[in-house]
Amino acid sequence: MASPGAGRAPPELPERNCGYREVEYWDQRYQGAADSAPYDWFGDFSSFRALLEPELRPEDRILVLGCGNSALSYELFLGGFPNVTSVDYSSVVVAAMQARHAHVPQLRWETMDVRKLDFPSASFDVVLEKGTLDALLAGERDPWTVSSEGVHTVDQVLSEDSDHEDFLSAIQL
Ligand SMILES: C[S@@+](CC[C@H](N)C(=O)[O-])C[C@H]1O[C@@H](n2cnc3c(N)ncnc32)[C@H](O)[C@@H]1O
Repeated sequence: MASPGAGRAPPELPERNCGYREVEYWDQRYQGAADSAPYDWFGDFSSFRALLEPELRPEDRILVLGCGNSALSYELFLGGFPNVTSVDYSSVVVAAMQARHAHVPQLRWETMDVRKLDFPSASFDVVLEKGTLDALLAGERDPWTVSSEGVHTVDQVLSEDSDHEDFLSAIQL
């Protein structure tokens, strides 16, 4: 995975790429997140806004998977999409996000593994992820041929209603 942090001291990288799958890695990386500026992997909301906005309705219940220290959820709120729930399995970053956004009680933050989402059925209209599947699938040797473990991970993340085949095609682009 590409490393974020242009203009800042680079964060500790995992010893091996598959370290990006470990919650311990992220917990350590997010120490101090409460006192640092947000960081968006692969670009912020403005980079994707033109693509995203036509797909969203203001009343949509949006779930952000693996929110990390990103400004995306707050920027969605500011952009007129107030119903946003964000999850990450790092309790460290979730606590930091709760503290940072305490002035916006509409935004919800939960410590949760995206492979074991604990919401009632049909809780959301839109699910967004940016960089989270990259982390989950880090360590795959060949992006064109995802291992059975990788496929199992995808099965855990996607609901039964989702179009699994389309997803696999998408990640093989
Ligand atoms: C590359 S960062 C992306 C963060 C953010 N989405 C962004 O765009 O800047 C990957 C994030 O996914 C989270 N993550 C990785 N695996 C996860 C899992 N199984 N469940 C929940 N969060 C996970 C990590 O803690 C980390 O915050």
